[in-house]
Amino acid sequence: MQTALDPTIQRTENFAQDAASLILKHGHEAIARSGLFRLGLAGGNTPKAVYQILAQHAATFPWAKVQITFGDERCVAPDHPDSNFRMAREALLDAVGIPVGNVFRIRGEISADQAALECEQQLKVMAARFNEPVYRHDLLLLGLGEDGHTASLFPDSPALEEKTLHVVATVGPKPPPQRVTFTYPLINSARCVAFLLKDPAKESVFQQALAGLHPAGKVKPTDGNVVWIVGT
Ligand code: 6PG
Repeated sequence: MQTALDPTIQRTENFAQDAASLILKHGHEAIARSGLFRLGLAGGNTPKAVYQILAQHAATFPWAKVQITFGDERCVAPDHPDSNFRMAREALLDAVGIPVGNVFRIRGEISADQAALECEQQLKVMAARFNEPVYRHDLLLLGLGEDGHTASLFPDSPALEEKTLHVVATVGPKPPPQRVTFTYPLINSARCVAFLLKDPAKESVFQQALAGLHPAGKVKPTDGNVVWIVGT
Protein backbone atom coordinates (compact mmCIF):
# COMPACT_ATOMS: atom_id res chain seq x y z
CA MET A 1 0.00 0.00 0.00
CA GLN A 2 1.52 3.26 -1.13
CA THR A 3 1.82 5.56 1.89
CA ALA A 4 1.55 9.29 1.37
CA LEU A 5 4.96 10.91 1.21
CA ASP A 6 5.63 13.77 3.62
CA PRO A 7 5.13 17.17 1.93
CA THR A 8 8.19 19.01 0.70
CA ILE A 9 8.34 22.61 1.93
CA GLN A 10 10.35 25.16 -0.02
CA ARG A 11 10.49 28.54 1.71
CA THR A 12 11.84 31.17 -0.62
CA GLU A 13 12.34 34.91 -1.04
CA ASN A 14 11.98 34.36 -4.78
CA PHE A 15 8.47 32.93 -4.61
CA ALA A 16 7.21 33.56 -8.14
CA GLN A 17 10.53 32.66 -9.78
CA ASP A 18 10.94 29.46 -7.78
CA ALA A 19 7.33 28.40 -8.31
CA ALA A 20 7.68 29.00 -12.06
CA SER A 21 10.94 27.02 -12.11
CA LEU A 22 9.23 24.10 -10.37
CA ILE A 23 6.39 24.16 -12.90
CA LEU A 24 8.78 24.25 -15.87
CA LYS A 25 10.83 21.41 -14.36
CA HIS A 26 7.74 19.24 -14.01
CA GLY A 27 6.74 20.23 -17.53
CA HIS A 28 9.98 19.11 -19.13
CA GLU A 29 9.85 15.83 -17.17
CA ALA A 30 6.22 15.18 -18.15
CA ILE A 31 6.80 15.91 -21.83
CA ALA A 32 9.88 13.66 -21.84
CA ARG A 33 7.79 10.93 -20.17
CA SER A 34 4.54 11.12 -22.11
CA GLY A 35 4.77 13.85 -24.73
CA LEU A 36 2.27 15.98 -22.80
CA PHE A 37 2.30 18.18 -19.67
CA ARG A 38 -1.03 17.98 -17.85
CA LEU A 39 -1.05 21.09 -15.66
CA GLY A 40 -3.89 22.16 -13.35
CA LEU A 41 -3.97 25.88 -12.57
CA ALA A 42 -4.88 27.41 -9.22
CA GLY A 43 -7.18 30.39 -8.94
CA GLY A 44 -7.20 33.38 -6.65
CA ASN A 45 -4.53 36.10 -6.61
CA THR A 46 -1.35 34.37 -5.46
CA PRO A 47 -0.60 32.46 -8.69
CA LYS A 48 -0.83 35.53 -10.98
CA ALA A 49 2.82 36.57 -10.51
CA VAL A 50 3.90 32.96 -11.13
CA TYR A 51 1.90 32.76 -14.36
CA GLN A 52 3.39 36.06 -15.51
CA ILE A 53 6.89 34.62 -15.12
CA LEU A 54 5.85 31.47 -16.99
CA ALA A 55 4.62 33.74 -19.80
CA GLN A 56 8.19 35.02 -20.19
CA HIS A 57 9.07 31.48 -21.33
CA ALA A 58 6.67 31.63 -24.26
CA ALA A 59 9.43 31.01 -26.78
CA THR A 60 11.54 28.60 -24.73
CA PHE A 61 8.99 26.06 -23.49
CA PRO A 62 6.89 23.71 -25.71
CA TRP A 63 3.51 25.13 -24.70
CA ALA A 64 1.82 23.31 -27.59
CA LYS A 65 2.39 20.14 -25.53
CA VAL A 66 0.62 21.47 -22.44
CA GLN A 67 -2.93 20.62 -21.39
CA ILE A 68 -4.53 23.06 -18.95
CA THR A 69 -7.25 22.41 -16.37
CA PHE A 70 -8.55 24.63 -13.56
CA GLY A 71 -8.83 23.31 -10.01
CA ASP A 72 -11.90 25.45 -9.56
CA GLU A 73 -13.85 28.28 -11.10
CA ARG A 74 -16.24 30.90 -9.93
CA CYS A 75 -19.68 30.84 -11.58
CA VAL A 76 -19.16 34.04 -13.51
CA ALA A 77 -18.56 34.87 -17.18
CA PRO A 78 -15.05 34.17 -18.50
CA ASP A 79 -14.38 37.90 -18.87
CA HIS A 80 -15.62 38.71 -15.34
CA PRO A 81 -12.97 40.24 -13.00
CA ASP A 82 -13.53 37.32 -10.57
CA SER A 83 -12.99 34.62 -13.21
CA ASN A 84 -10.01 32.35 -12.55
CA PHE A 85 -9.90 31.68 -16.28
CA ARG A 86 -9.66 35.40 -17.04
CA MET A 87 -6.76 35.78 -14.59
CA ALA A 88 -4.91 32.86 -16.16
CA ARG A 89 -5.71 33.99 -19.70
CA GLU A 90 -4.38 37.50 -19.09
CA ALA A 91 -1.30 36.40 -17.07
CA LEU A 92 -0.32 33.34 -19.10
CA LEU A 93 -2.55 31.75 -21.71
CA ASP A 94 -2.73 34.67 -24.15
CA ALA A 95 1.08 34.90 -24.14
CA VAL A 96 2.06 31.28 -24.71
CA GLY A 97 -0.31 29.98 -27.38
CA ILE A 98 -1.61 26.74 -25.89
CA PRO A 99 -3.90 25.08 -28.45
CA VAL A 100 -7.50 26.02 -27.60
CA GLY A 101 -8.45 22.33 -27.47
CA ASN A 102 -5.89 21.84 -24.71
CA VAL A 103 -7.49 24.36 -22.36
CA PHE A 104 -10.31 22.73 -20.38
CA ARG A 105 -12.10 25.84 -19.16
CA ILE A 106 -14.83 25.32 -16.60
CA ARG A 107 -17.72 27.31 -18.08
CA GLY A 108 -18.70 29.61 -15.24
CA GLU A 109 -21.35 31.25 -17.38
CA ILE A 110 -23.64 28.21 -17.46
CA SER A 111 -25.29 26.31 -14.62
CA ALA A 112 -22.74 25.08 -12.08
CA ASP A 113 -24.02 21.51 -12.27
CA GLN A 114 -23.83 21.53 -16.07
CA ALA A 115 -20.35 23.05 -16.04
CA ALA A 116 -19.16 20.44 -13.54
CA LEU A 117 -20.60 17.59 -15.61
CA GLU A 118 -19.04 18.98 -18.79
CA CYS A 119 -15.60 19.20 -17.18
CA GLU A 120 -15.96 15.75 -15.65
CA GLN A 121 -16.75 14.29 -19.06
CA GLN A 122 -13.84 16.09 -20.76
CA LEU A 123 -11.40 14.71 -18.19
CA LYS A 124 -12.88 11.21 -18.45
CA VAL A 125 -12.26 11.22 -22.23
CA MET A 126 -8.66 12.30 -21.70
CA ALA A 127 -8.12 9.74 -18.92
CA ALA A 128 -9.36 6.99 -21.24
CA ARG A 129 -6.79 8.06 -23.83
CA PHE A 130 -4.12 7.48 -21.19
CA ASN A 131 -5.75 4.22 -20.03
CA GLU A 132 -6.22 5.79 -16.62
CA PRO A 133 -9.22 5.26 -14.32
CA VAL A 134 -8.95 8.91 -13.30
CA TYR A 135 -7.33 11.85 -15.08
CA ARG A 136 -3.84 12.15 -13.62
CA HIS A 137 -2.39 15.65 -13.50
CA ASP A 138 1.39 15.77 -13.87
CA LEU A 139 1.23 18.86 -11.67
CA LEU A 140 -1.81 20.37 -9.97
CA LEU A 141 -1.39 23.86 -8.50
CA LEU A 142 -3.50 24.77 -5.47
CA GLY A 143 -3.88 27.74 -3.16
CA LEU A 144 -4.68 27.97 0.54
CA GLY A 145 -7.47 30.10 1.95
CA GLU A 146 -7.46 31.76 5.38
CA ASP A 147 -9.98 29.13 6.54
CA GLY A 148 -7.89 26.26 5.19
CA HIS A 149 -9.89 25.79 1.99
CA THR A 150 -8.23 24.79 -1.25
CA ALA A 151 -9.64 24.97 -4.75
CA SER A 152 -13.28 25.54 -3.77
CA LEU A 153 -13.30 22.82 -1.13
CA PHE A 154 -14.43 24.84 1.88
CA PRO A 155 -14.68 23.65 5.51
CA ASP A 156 -17.87 21.67 6.29
CA SER A 157 -18.81 21.48 2.60
CA PRO A 158 -20.58 18.35 1.32
CA ALA A 159 -18.05 18.43 -1.55
CA LEU A 160 -15.42 17.23 0.95
CA GLU A 161 -17.25 13.90 1.21
CA GLU A 162 -17.54 13.33 -2.56
CA LYS A 163 -15.98 9.98 -3.38
CA THR A 164 -17.22 9.38 -6.92
CA LEU A 165 -17.53 12.58 -8.91
CA HIS A 166 -14.33 14.43 -9.88
CA VAL A 167 -15.86 17.86 -10.44
CA VAL A 168 -18.85 19.26 -8.54
CA ALA A 169 -20.87 22.42 -8.07
CA THR A 170 -20.49 23.97 -4.64
CA VAL A 171 -21.17 27.11 -2.62
CA GLY A 172 -18.57 28.80 -0.49
CA PRO A 173 -18.21 31.71 1.94
CA LYS A 174 -15.56 33.40 -0.23
CA PRO A 175 -17.32 35.56 -2.82
CA PRO A 176 -18.44 34.83 -5.41
CA PRO A 177 -20.20 31.97 -3.60
CA GLN A 178 -21.35 29.80 -6.52
CA ARG A 179 -18.42 27.69 -7.71
CA VAL A 180 -17.29 24.53 -9.46
CA THR A 181 -14.45 22.57 -7.91
CA PHE A 182 -12.27 19.51 -8.31
CA THR A 183 -12.88 16.93 -5.60
CA TYR A 184 -10.40 14.76 -3.68
CA PRO A 185 -10.71 11.74 -6.02
CA LEU A 186 -9.38 13.91 -8.86
CA ILE A 187 -6.97 16.03 -6.81
CA ASN A 188 -5.42 12.99 -5.13
CA SER A 189 -4.83 11.28 -8.48
CA ALA A 190 -2.19 13.87 -9.33
CA ARG A 191 1.45 12.88 -9.75
CA CYS A 192 2.36 16.05 -7.85
CA VAL A 193 0.35 18.76 -6.08
CA ALA A 194 2.06 22.10 -5.50
CA PHE A 195 0.51 24.55 -3.05
CA LEU A 196 1.42 28.17 -3.76
CA LEU A 197 1.46 30.30 -0.60
CA LYS A 198 2.71 33.85 -0.19
CA ASP A 199 0.91 35.40 2.75
CA PRO A 200 2.56 35.44 6.20
CA ALA A 201 -0.92 35.82 7.72
CA LYS A 202 -1.62 32.24 6.59
CA GLU A 203 1.35 30.70 8.46
CA SER A 204 -0.80 29.23 11.23
CA VAL A 205 -3.42 27.78 8.88
CA PHE A 206 -0.50 26.44 6.78
CA GLN A 207 0.95 24.67 9.85
CA GLN A 208 -2.50 23.29 10.66
CA ALA A 209 -2.83 21.99 7.10
CA LEU A 210 0.56 20.31 7.42
CA ALA A 211 -0.86 18.58 10.49
CA GLY A 212 -3.71 17.24 8.33
CA LEU A 213 -6.33 19.76 9.31
CA HIS A 214 -8.72 21.70 7.07
CA PRO A 215 -9.61 20.80 3.49
CA ALA A 216 -6.06 21.59 2.36
CA GLY A 217 -4.70 19.11 4.91
CA LYS A 218 -6.72 16.32 3.30
CA VAL A 219 -4.85 16.62 -0.02
CA LYS A 220 -2.84 13.39 -0.03
CA PRO A 221 -2.08 12.02 -3.50
CA THR A 222 -2.48 8.23 -3.52
CA ASP A 223 0.56 7.86 -5.78
CA GLY A 224 2.22 11.24 -5.81
CA ASN A 225 3.71 13.96 -3.66
CA VAL A 226 2.91 17.37 -2.26
CA VAL A 227 5.15 20.40 -2.45
CA TRP A 228 4.56 23.72 -0.68
CA ILE A 229 6.22 26.76 -2.24
CA VAL A 230 6.07 29.31 0.58
CA GLY A 231 7.04 32.89 -0.12
CA THR A 232 8.79 34.66 2.78
C1 6PG B 1 -10.31 30.55 -5.66
C2 6PG B 1 -9.12 29.68 -5.38
C3 6PG B 1 -8.88 29.55 -3.91
C4 6PG B 1 -7.61 30.33 -3.66
C5 6PG B 1 -7.40 30.60 -2.19
C6 6PG B 1 -6.21 31.54 -2.01
O1 6PG B 1 -10.95 30.38 -6.70
O2 6PG B 1 -10.57 31.43 -4.83
O3 6PG B 1 -9.16 28.50 -6.00
O4 6PG B 1 -8.72 28.24 -3.44
O5 6PG B 1 -6.50 29.56 -4.16
O6 6PG B 1 -8.58 31.21 -1.68
O7 6PG B 1 -6.53 32.75 -2.69
P1 6PG B 1 -5.45 33.94 -2.80
O8 6PG B 1 -4.32 33.39 -3.63
O9 6PG B 1 -6.19 35.04 -3.49
O10 6PG B 1 -5.02 34.25 -1.40
